[in-house]
Amino acid sequence: MKLAKKKITVGITGGIAAYKAADLVSWLHQQGADVQVMMTKGAQEFISPLLLHALSGHVVIIDMFANDDKLHIPHIYGVDGADLFIIAPATANIMAKAAHGIADEVVSASILAATCPILFVPAMNFHMYENIATQENMEILQRRGYHVLEAEEGRMACGTVGKGRFPEAAVLQDAVMKILFPKQDLAGKKVLITAGPTREQIDPVRYLSNYSSGKMGYALAEAARDRGADVTLVSGPVKLLAPAGITVIPVVTAEEMYQATLACYGEMDIVIGAAAVADYRPDQTASQKIKKQGAAKDGIQLNLVANPDILQALGAAKKHQYLVGFAAETENLLENAEKKLIAKKADMIIANDVSQPGVGFEVDNNAVTLVTKDGHYVLPQMTKQALAEKIWDYIMVAAEKKNQ
Ligand code: C5P
Repeated sequence: MKLAKKKITVGITGGIAAYKAADLVSWLHQQGADVQVMMTKGAQEFISPLLLHALSGHVVIIDMFANDDKLHIPHIYGVDGADLFIIAPATANIMAKAAHGIADEVVSASILAATCPILFVPAMNFHMYENIATQENMEILQRRGYHVLEAEEGRMACGTVGKGRFPEAAVLQDAVMKILFPKQDLAGKKVLITAGPTREQIDPVRYLSNYSSGKMGYALAEAARDRGADVTLVSGPVKLLAPAGITVIPVVTAEEMYQATLACYGEMDIVIGAAAVADYRPDQTASQKIKKQGAAKDGIQLNLVANPDILQALGAAKKHQYLVGFAAETENLLENAEKKLIAKKADMIIANDVSQPGVGFEVDNNAVTLVTKDGHYVLPQMTKQALAEKIWDYIMVAAEKKNQ
C-alpha cells in the first residue's frame, strides 16, 4: 500500500496498448491510491469503461459534457486535487494536442486544467513514434516540465520491430514512484520512532495516561517511509490507522515500549522518541476493580513508581545512532530542552511548547524549536505533516555533520 492517500488520475487514449492501462490501474488501486480513470472515444474502441470502473472503483469519465451531479464539470473534477495525472497509453495525437493546447475532449481538456505533475506514457507504431512531428511534440512537453517516458523497443502489434512499445510494468511503476516521491534521501536508512501515549493500568478498568494523539510521531514515520527509509514504529494506543509500508509494533505500557525499543535499537541509524511516555505507573495493578472505600470524602492513596526513561536508556547505549527526543513543555521550553539534550545524551531535542493555543497534543498543527549542540532552529506553526518534512530535512543535515 505504497500509494495510500494518493489521488491519481489515469487518462487512457486510443492505442492498441490501451489494454495495458488496465494493469496500471489495477496496480495503482492495489497500492491504495484513489484512482480516477478518464477515456477518449478512441480508447473505448479498444477497452471497455466498465472494466476500468471495476478496477478503479469509480465511474470512468468519458464525456466532457456529462450532465451528472457526481461528475460535476468532468475535465476539472477529474484532475482536481490529483497528485499525478498519467496519460497511458499516450498516442501521438494526444501529445500533439497537449503540445499545442488543444482541448477538444475530456483527456486533452484535463491536461490543460491539471495543476499536478503529468506523466505521458507514449506507445504507438514506431514510424509514428520516430516521426519528427511526434518527436518535436514530446520535446515541447518535456521542456514544459511534463514527464515523458521513453517507449521501449521490441515487436509491435503491426508485426514490425522498433521503438514504440508500452513500457514493462516495473519500469512504469518505478517512474510513477519517482515522480510521487522525488526525495529519497533516507533510502537505506533504518529508522525507529516511538509515538503516542502509554497507559499505566491501575485496575482492570482504569489507567493513567496523557493527551498524546500520536499524530506527530506518525507523521514523522510516514515522511521517513516516503523518503525511502525502512521504518519501525513502536506505538502506544492511538486512534490512527497503522500506516502502510511501516513495521508497527503496538504496545500499551512504558515498560512494553522500553522492551520493544531496546530490542531493535542496535540495528537502527536514526531514532526519534516522539512518544509521551508516562513517567510513573501504579506500584501495583489491582486484579479486580477497586471499590469505593469508607466514606467518599476520605479518598484513597495511589502509590506510583518511576517508569524506565526510554530515551535516556537509548542515550546511554548509543553507538552510531543519531538520537532525537522531544521536550513537551508548558514553561521554560528552551532551557528544559537544553538540559534534556545533555541529560539524555541525545543529538537533538525537539522543543514543543504545548501551552500554546492550536499546537501540540491532539491537534493537527505544531510549532517547534530544534535544539542541538550547534544551536537552535525555529520551525513556526504548520501542519504536523509539513513539520515532519522540515524536521527530517534538518536531521539529515545534522546527522551528516555528526558523521564527518
Ligand atoms: O523527560 P521528558 O519526559 O520531558 O523527556 C521527553 C522525551 O523523553 C521524549 O522524547 C520522550 O519520548 C522521552 N521519554 C522516554 N521515556 C520516559 C519519558 C520520556 O523515552 N519514561
